[in-house]
Amino acid sequence: MTNKAIPIVTIDGPSGSGKGTMSMMLARKLGFHYLDSGALYRLLALAASRHKVALDNIEGLAVLAGHMDITFAMKADNGAPQIILEGEDVSTQIRAEEIGLLASKVAAIPEVRAALLQRQHAFAAKPGLIADGRDMGTVVFPSAQVKIFLTAGADERAKRRYKQLIEKGENVNLPALIDSVRERDERDSQRAVSPLVPAPDAHQIDSTDLSIEEVLQLILDLVQPINVEAAAG
Ligand code: DC
Repeated sequence: MTNKAIPIVTIDGPSGSGKGTMSMMLARKLGFHYLDSGALYRLLALAASRHKVALDNIEGLAVLAGHMDITFAMKADNGAPQIILEGEDVSTQIRAEEIGLLASKVAAIPEVRAALLQRQHAFAAKPGLIADGRDMGTVVFPSAQVKIFLTAGADERAKRRYKQLIEKGENVNLPALIDSVRERDERDSQRAVSPLVPAPDAHQIDSTDLSIEEVLQLILDLVQPINVEAAAG
């Protein structure tokens, strides 16, 4: 399991809540490692579609989850995360809407989640870890020192996503995006295994009306004590 001496901060919440941006900013600020667990499910979705492993082939998906050849790196010039599948940089491809929907389907399969558990634990290393996902505080790192549950209204999250996609030059339609956000929320929070629910000891933050800086400061205030403790120990 996880080593208690390593400070772990979990940031769970629905897509569009700002947890990805927030987790990366925190990891950079504290010099901690960063686990983007959603990227693992997205990588599996992409690998499965490339290798033609069907959604009902549970065993095939679990084997692929445990063995897919992936690397999380950082771009040398700007420190942006770089996600490599079988030697190819797929950082952009895995963010496509259809891969997100497929990821949410593979993520509902218990055997897939079990196969990815060990891979996620391997990210916990000194000086500390920021773990971003849906079940970081409840299932993957239940003994994390600080747990955050970051949320925002569905319409606001769809609008943020719309802005990001338009900036990337993708052709998207806001009402369809709102439906897609709601559909994904429903599946992620209703599934039988590791549903998206706050851990009982999580600090809940609603970012609907807060700026990125305001949310970052709220989280830094919560993390400060464990960071000081880790530095001292
Ligand atoms: O955070 P994201 O949008 O990149 O996640 C993609 C999908 O993976 C999302 O629909 C839910 C799923 N997921 C999950 O089930 N558990 C996690 N810890 C992270 C993501």
